[in-house]
Amino acid sequence: MAQNWTPNSWRNKPIQQVPDYPDAAALEATEARLAKFPPLVFAGEARRLKASLAKVADGQGFLLQGGDCAESFAEHGADTIRDFFRAFLQMAVVLTFGAQQPVVKVGRIAGQFAKPRSSNTETQNGVSLPSYRGDIINGIEFTEEARVPNPERQIMAYRQSAATLNLLRAFAMGGYANLENVHQWMLGFVKDSPQAERYRKLADRISETMDFMKAIGISAENHPGLRETDFFTSHEALLLGYEQALTRVDSTSGDWYATSGHMIWIGDRTRQPDHAHIEYCRGIKNPIGLKCGPSLTGDGLLELIDLLNPANEAGRLTLICRFGHDKVAEHLPRLIRAVEREGKKVVWSCDPMHGNTITLNNYKTRPFERILSEVESFFQIHRAEGTHPGGVHIEMTGNDVTECTGGARALSGADLGDRYHTHCDPRLNADQALELAFLLAERMKTGRDEKRMVVNG
Ligand code: PEP
Ligand code: CO
Repeated sequence: MAQNWTPNSWRNKPIQQVPDYPDAAALEATEARLAKFPPLVFAGEARRLKASLAKVADGQGFLLQGGDCAESFAEHGADTIRDFFRAFLQMAVVLTFGAQQPVVKVGRIAGQFAKPRSSNTETQNGVSLPSYRGDIINGIEFTEEARVPNPERQIMAYRQSAATLNLLRAFAMGGYANLENVHQWMLGFVKDSPQAERYRKLADRISETMDFMKAIGISAENHPGLRETDFFTSHEALLLGYEQALTRVDSTSGDWYATSGHMIWIGDRTRQPDHAHIEYCRGIKNPIGLKCGPSLTGDGLLELIDLLNPANEAGRLTLICRFGHDKVAEHLPRLIRAVEREGKKVVWSCDPMHGNTITLNNYKTRPFERILSEVESFFQIHRAEGTHPGGVHIEMTGNDVTECTGGARALSGADLGDRYHTHCDPRLNADQALELAFLLAERMKTGRDEKRMVVNG
């Protein structure tokens, strides 16, 4: 067990991004209630995810992590969850084919509620109010009342997470995630896309592979692996009182686990080595993500790796790099070289969202070309360094929103107002997300072909 660590040792450390709850006694009572609620996930599941991520760290798999920037109470419903899951599984199939490797599927879902903010206040028309910090903390409406942090929201977030996870488990194990279904949905997407010609080639190859498998007798009826799928949950461990309440001892190993989600990550704003968020995360055994932004140095990263993964266990730590399409070439190589020099085992993942946010017509948006470009650079840099580009981390929804510009339907700044629903950052819509998967799969194939040429000399 981590030295001098307890589920509440983070409380003795400096902390960033804490909500200002007006009623400390009510907060304490809520946390005590939550501490008695059942765990949302189980230690064995988190261990299984860690084992899958260990393979990715070893170059034998690819991580697909994605979902809302911020889940909301307003958008909670079966259709939203189903549509996300459909889009996400299609991406996973396309990427599996592109990478020719297993894809580890981790949603930003069933717990992704708390948001770090760049300012404590928001000003509109000369009026300043506390910033919105996610539905688990306060309300998004711009009123004094809504913006007061309310502990009861933690109970609501817990219940929504439980209901979401319940449906996801049913989808993943109950036949809905059947590979033949996912294949049919994907063909529907290709048929309707303005870029149908471009995507058809890859889609046809997937169809041929499916026909071949059927011909030799491998079908969903006789292979559970084709009708079920592994799906895991993740969120930013920002609201530590909530996380602490759901931190439990695993009876089989005696270790502490966060049971609010399978994987949790540390945000770019809360990764100070001597602060509370690192303290909390170092003591739990789940797989951990660490956001790496432009201010992180090679030595700073190594210090964090030693705190979070002193045993250098593969699968424990995923570095989620988020520099911006124009900054990735400047910052990523030094981090890769530091990690390689010290022989640290990590999963390298690319978050092409958080370094590429711009404002257009008063909307926060992200141009699709920049998102694609950051992942492309990430792939190229890893290829040049001889390391494995292990995954992508994206903000997406299964709904037909207009939040990011570009993509095959060429959404423009003028379209953003049509269906702009996000509670925080702009998300790829279902078509844009799937397009990104197709374009990345093409590049993965090119990368494999190049490697083969080098090997065959
Ligand atoms: C996020 O993932 O929504 C987020 C806030 O990211 P970061 O910490 O990288 O800014
Ligand atoms: Co975000």
